[in-house]
Amino acid sequence: MKIAIVGLGYVGLPLSIQFARSGVTVLGLDVDAEKVELLNKGRSYIKHVDAAAISEMTKAGLLHASTDFSRIREVDAVIICVPTPLNKNREPDISFVIKTGQVIAPHLAKGTLVVLESTTYPGTTDEDLREVLEEGSRMKAGVDFHLAFSPEREDPANEQSKVKLIPKIVGGYTRACLERAMALYGKAIDTPVAVSSCRVAEATKLLENIFRSVNIALVNELKLVYGAMGIDIWEVIEAAKTKPFGFMPFYPGPGLGGHCIPIDPFYLTWKAREYGRHTRFIELAGEINTAMPEHVVHRVSDALNSQRKALNGSKILLIGLAYKPNVDDERESPSYVLMDLLSERGAQAEYHDPYVPVIKPTREHSHWAGKKSVEWNRATIESFDLVLIATNHSCVNYQELADWAKCIVDTRNAMATVQVVPGKVWKA
Ligand SMILES: NC(=O)c1ccc[n+]([C@@H]2O[C@H](COP(=O)([O-])OP(=O)(O)OC[C@H]3O[C@@H](n4cnc5c(N)ncnc54)[C@H](O)[C@@H]3O)[C@@H](O)[C@H]2O)c1
Repeated sequence: MKIAIVGLGYVGLPLSIQFARSGVTVLGLDVDAEKVELLNKGRSYIKHVDAAAISEMTKAGLLHASTDFSRIREVDAVIICVPTPLNKNREPDISFVIKTGQVIAPHLAKGTLVVLESTTYPGTTDEDLREVLEEGSRMKAGVDFHLAFSPEREDPANEQSKVKLIPKIVGGYTRACLERAMALYGKAIDTPVAVSSCRVAEATKLLENIFRSVNIALVNELKLVYGAMGIDIWEVIEAAKTKPFGFMPFYPGPGLGGHCIPIDPFYLTWKAREYGRHTRFIELAGEINTAMPEHVVHRVSDALNSQRKALNGSKILLIGLAYKPNVDDERESPSYVLMDLLSERGAQAEYHDPYVPVIKPTREHSHWAGKKSVEWNRATIESFDLVLIATNHSCVNYQELADWAKCIVDTRNAMATVQVVPGKVWKA
């Protein structure tokens, strides 16, 4: 069996490796020629994806990448893992999915299975994608080719999170589409889980991400309420965790980050309007979570004030540009918002993140492009008025930080077990 995986990013690359490991020949397709070249050389471009796993599969002839989309005609199935961001008005941008559909449609052979994995609103697969595929291929979905949706459940840098072991939801356009898709995933994934339609599969992924967003907002709000009462939210969560049923821990932070949780819930908000419905939980959670960086900057200001310093003119070092610990992914990271807010108030904001040695040019943060992670040594850390922990990478030496920094604002409870002079650490 030979399949194509379109979009070789955080989702598509690990999935390609997993299929190849299961003996399926994988053709990886991407518009990014650099990724294609690196993959074919057996090299990794994602920190937590092992280069050895790629080179083993490329050498075995089971994994190969290309930018030539006409090669779709060689495969039995196509899996689409392209980005689904929000546009500047915070509305769904499914243009990458549509473009992919347009590019692959003319090359689809009869009987091919097309599966969308990109997170999106219910209806994308059986309406938007189906229409472009049918138009470009002059074939009918469910009759001439198969169509399905199967969301990815990726938890980057979590050692326990292995593509093969994570149950995978699969919804088909027709019963036959579902059967084909279940058989495909059954080759590489231990537990494919069938649902009745593409829409149920799309809605399931959104529920999972909305669940996280709402619960993170809840602990972020409780952090402020309990903080005002002199109660530490982190201690409360640890205590609540001892309950063996009916509770699941979520942790507060400086704001939401990454390609999923800050974005995906708003796909549903947008689609719900078509049905005259409002997604109040999603919007309230969004409001609370996006207010977190402002709260953090207030704490930074209070901490400086206690030392008779103003934000304006202070040198502040932010630790962790990536949105979560131990990854190199800084998309949608609240660290950028923090650096913006600090510099708008006249502070000089620098960052330290071994996983992001330099900020690459992106549309959203072009003004930070080229900025480099500062070196880790006593003289450098001592030269800052305040250090703000935005992400608690485990490679950072927090004891050295406690010894060297003048003042620390900690949004991640990273200093909880570190010996530090009383009054030096401010939780935020
Ligand atoms: N990253 C995660 O942890 C995660 C988890 C679950 C679901 N998802 C979802 O999976 C999808 C992909 O996310 P990702 O994190 O892998 O994104 P990514 O940006 O890491 O990768 C997307 C890849 O698609 C390529 N691409 C863009 N346009 C293309 C086109 N027209 N044709 C072919 N390739 C194209 C890009 O070059 C890139 O390599 C998104 O919908 C996302 O919401 C991501």
